[in-house]
Amino acid sequence: MHLTREEEKMYDGEEGLAVEKCMEILVALGDIYGAEKLVPITSAQISGVSYKTIGDAGLEFIEELSNDARVRVPSTLNPAGVDLKIWKELGFSEEFTKKQLAIVDAYQKMGISATCTCTPYLVGNVPTFGSHIAWSESSAVCYANSILGARTNREGGPGALSAAICGRTANYGYHLDEGRRPNLFVDLETAVEGSDFGAIGYMVGNNIGGGIPYFKFKRTPSTDQLKWLGAALASSGSVALYHVENITPESKWAAKIVSDDKIEKLIVNKADINETKIKLSTTEEKPDLICVGCPHASLEEIKRVSETVAGLKLENMLWVCTSISVKASADRMGYTEIIENAGGKMVCDTCMVVAPIEELDYKVVGVDSAKAANYVPNMCGLDVVYNDLKNLIIEKK
Ligand code: F3S
Repeated sequence: MHLTREEEKMYDGEEGLAVEKCMEILVALGDIYGAEKLVPITSAQISGVSYKTIGDAGLEFIEELSNDARVRVPSTLNPAGVDLKIWKELGFSEEFTKKQLAIVDAYQKMGISATCTCTPYLVGNVPTFGSHIAWSESSAVCYANSILGARTNREGGPGALSAAICGRTANYGYHLDEGRRPNLFVDLETAVEGSDFGAIGYMVGNNIGGGIPYFKFKRTPSTDQLKWLGAALASSGSVALYHVENITPESKWAAKIVSDDKIEKLIVNKADINETKIKLSTTEEKPDLICVGCPHASLEEIKRVSETVAGLKLENMLWVCTSISVKASADRMGYTEIIENAGGKMVCDTCMVVAPIEELDYKVVGVDSAKAANYVPNMCGLDVVYNDLKNLIIEKK
């Protein structure tokens, strides 16, 4: 792989041990995937934040790196394992939280913003069209590549962190035009809404693995609906990019490939979607905890949640997962108050998957996200029910 003079100096340790180690990681990745060079990045998004997923080994690695490593580009953090403010109220232990805070501190020391969200594009980390970035949260990668037209591979936590510290990443895969060509045409025969999007993403992700789908919808989806679609695609498959006819920024270019190459076609109807929704639940029992906001909720989603629960008293606990920044706007708009009056909680910095909810007293989790439905049983060992919020809530008698 070709390195510039400056990159060679970094690789040879002239900018310190941390930079040298990170360059080694980037060059190794580039060699594995056949990159010819490194490419400068404009932002990074770093996963591997929850103590539940990285443990003591991860904490030690990050603390050691934080002694002399600093990021060179704007960088944000993925969700942590607890709400950094109301962790006690939610029932999380002091022992876990102490380790969690140490992880977040170490990342902050490196200059990474402790946004603790999987929707960095809702809190100011918004790359421009065509810019090269190094993001690692799979749903955010899908959003950045597909909706924003930025270019990133599905980086692992160490890869994204190394890229942030060196300000560059290996130029292969989704950074190249060739790596962004669609290879499955998905034709939606039916108009879709709400939790249909997650089910479609889950079904197509299973079908295509790491491929690139090109969707044709009957109605224009909202950005929130595309966010759910991408998260599900990235969790059942390893999709990092999709195109939507007349919607996403590279769709005209992709449409030409779809018609010239006569790629495989998948027709999706209402029965397919309903069947997938049923498969996504592991039980028919009623949830005692409902978690929405996977990926982290936008202000518009929180508004809809507040409209759904306004004036109700809920039997089941409701968590609305989001970032601290979006919650601040929800507070101002009065949505938080409505949700809390119904008995729900706004939960920041974390989510139903990366928090140790298995240590709390819940048995069945209700979710409206196919990604969460896919991960909660494995990551938390709890049953899951997949449906729209209005069908998950139980009113107090
Ligand atoms: Fe985000 Fe957690 Fe879902 S990190 S995408 S809310 S699993």
